[in-house]
Order: sequence, then structure tokens, then C-alpha cells
Amino acid sequence: MSVDVVVGGFWGDEGKGKIISHLVNKRQATIVARGGVGPNAGHTIVVDGVEYKLRMIPSGIGGKNVRKLLIGPGVLVNPDVFVEEIERTGVKGKAFLDNQCGIIEASHRKTDSSDPHLVKTVGTTGSGSGPANEDRIKRTLKLAKDIDKLKPYIIDVPSEIHQALANKEPILLEGTQATYLSLFHGTYPYVTTKDVTASSICADVGIGPTVVTDVTLVFKAYVTRVGKGFLPGELTEEETIKRGWTEYGTVTKRLRRAAPFNVDLAKRSIQLNSATKIALTKVDILFPPDQGKTSFTELSQQAKDWIFNLEKKIGMPFTFIGTGPADIDIIDREG
Ligand code: GTP
Ligand code: IMP
Ligand code: MG
Repeated sequence: MSVDVVVGGFWGDEGKGKIISHLVNKRQATIVARGGVGPNAGHTIVVDGVEYKLRMIPSGIGGKNVRKLLIGPGVLVNPDVFVEEIERTGVKGKAFLDNQCGIIEASHRKTDSSDPHLVKTVGTTGSGSGPANEDRIKRTLKLAKDIDKLKPYIIDVPSEIHQALANKEPILLEGTQATYLSLFHGTYPYVTTKDVTASSICADVGIGPTVVTDVTLVFKAYVTRVGKGFLPGELTEEETIKRGWTEYGTVTKRLRRAAPFNVDLAKRSIQLNSATKIALTKVDILFPPDQGKTSFTELSQQAKDWIFNLEKKIGMPFTFIGTGPADIDIIDREG
């Protein structure tokens, strides 16, 4: 039995989806449950050579043993996005949401893309997530149980998870956004509308911290953020392009701002999430000859030195090292 929670260490887009798509088969997980805010997230995963962009369905779609892909009651749902993704990925019969998931409506999206504070100051995703969470706090938001289109997909998510726990089945909990986008721990006001650290991801799906086996914190080999706010060591757009660190947001298509890996932020993030394992993605972007490598000994000496140096500074080993976008492009040092 294992319960793994996967969360982001910086400002999102670290590659949590890719780590989930590796762990789901390694752990032989039967349940993947998603926490976090909602469809403001965008995960890109490559499973069996096919790329999927997902905003709602958990990234465990390629899991050979997966019987349920769940969205916890703490998560906001855009019903059109949810149903479209089920059809596109062919997971009908496996994907469910809790009857208490909050519902994003057109009015929320309109406010999120027109309110000057949200658009100009915060730089939100425009997905309607923030305005929907405001209504949830006011207790006026519709829930999944109120929406006819969602009836076939509704399930009691906490009960499903607890049944699986009782059967000693391996479970993965997928976080979205990341530590410094947390409403409580992030760079306020340039943050999302909930806490998104490991404890909150557990609360979102209905489990307490005592059953968690591992918290895997995902860092990218450099830092990116979309939208406004503090980014230490931020590079100019020209320098970002020159280094090959150019990325565009999955949801917003905005150019992600970039900076080098930040040790102080990483150390604090380890504390805020009580991380037990670290994943480091996109090492191949810093060291292109290492693309697709699957064993640590095969890495170039430059990459190894860079990794050893960072591990010493942050005080934890990188258990998983990403060397490419596909689920199989990974060095797994867990044994
Ligand atoms: P959010 O929940 O939105 O924060 O997303 P996320 O953490 O799942 O990350 P997202 O998929 O938005 O961004 C990561 C990008 O990097 C995707 O395009 C992945 O395919 C890609 N990726 C992940 N790991 C690696 C890696 O090790 N190397 C390379 N080259 N690409 C990677
Ligand atoms: P909101 O969550 O749409 O309200 O946006 C608030 C801030 O969080 C903005 O800077 C967004 O770009 C950022 N954000 C929200 N979700 C994600 C994510 O999944 N990845 C990266 N940034 C995100
Ligand atoms: Mg993303």
C-alpha cells in the first residue's frame, strides 16, 4: 500500500503531470485523485508517444492498473472541459468527480478575463477559477450535483479513496499549481485562490496527513512563472530564448518568465510541503546531450556535477530526474 502526493515546488509547470505519468505505472496505482484549484492548471504529458494536454482529468490516464481517475471535492470543475477531456482521452467509465466539486460558469470566466485587478494586477489565467472560488466562499456557488450533464460522472471521492486504502491499493494524489502560487504561502497578491501545498491537496480529496507515504516535490531545472509577481534572478526575454528556456503556458499561451534554479526557494518549499522525495525535471534542457537518458551513470559529467552541487545545497537527493517530455524519459534512483 502507498499514498504518494505529488506537488509543485516553485510557480507551477514543473512537470507534475509527467512525474505522475511515471509513478502511476511504477506504483501500479489503481486510483489517481486530483486536488488543487481547477482548470487554471494545464498539464502536458506524453504517454506511449502520444501527447495530451489536460486541464481537469488526472494525469494518470496511462496507468495500466488504474481503475479510477478522480477529482476531489475541493477542486473546481468546468463541465465542458471535463467532458471534452474524457471523450478525447477515452477514459469514459474511469473518470469521476465528487458531487461537491464547485462549478465554474460563463459569468466566472467573464469576470476573470475583464476585471482590471484580476487581469492587469494579478494576471490570472482567465479560466474563471478565482471568481468561482469567491462564490464558493460566499456559499452561492453551484456544485457538481446541481449540473445534469455531470450526473453520469458523480461519485463519492473520499469514500472511493478510503475503500482503496482499506484494500491496501496504491494511490496517487496529484497536485496542481505550486507552492509559491499558494494563497497562504505564496507571493501574495500574485497567487492563486487557495492553498496548494501538500496538506491542502490531501484535504481537497478527503484524506488526512497520517496515511500519506511520500510527498514528492517537483522542481524544474530552472524556474518559470506566468503572470505577474516576484521572480528572483529573472532573465530578460532575449536571454531566456538564448538559453533555450522558452516555454508557453498550456492554458494561457503566455510566454513563461524564466530564472535560474533557486536554492533558497527550494529549501523553503521542502519545508512547506514536508517533502520526502524530490523530482527534478528538464535536466535535458540544461544539458541537451542527456536527453532521454534513463540511468544516472550515463549522464554527462557536467550534469552530474551540477546535480551533486544542488543536492548538497538543498540537503536532499533528486530521486527522480526528468530527461525529456515522455513518461519514459526519466532517471529513477528510488530502486
Ligand atoms: P501545472 O499544474 O499547470 O503547474 O503543470 P505541470 O507541473 O504538470 O507542468 P506542465 O505540463 O504545464 O509543464 C511542463 C512541461 O515540460 C510539459 O510540456 C512537459 O511535457 C514538459 N516536461 C516535463 N518534464 C520534462 C523533462 O524532464 N524534460 C523536458 N524536455 N520536458 C519535460
Ligand atoms: P488564477 O489561479 O487563474 O487566479 O491565476 C493566479 C496566478 O496563478 C496567475 O499568475 C496564474 O498565471 C497562476 N497560475 C494558476 N494556475 C497555474 C498553473 O497551473 N501553472 C502556472 N501558473 C498558474
Ligand atoms: Mg502547467
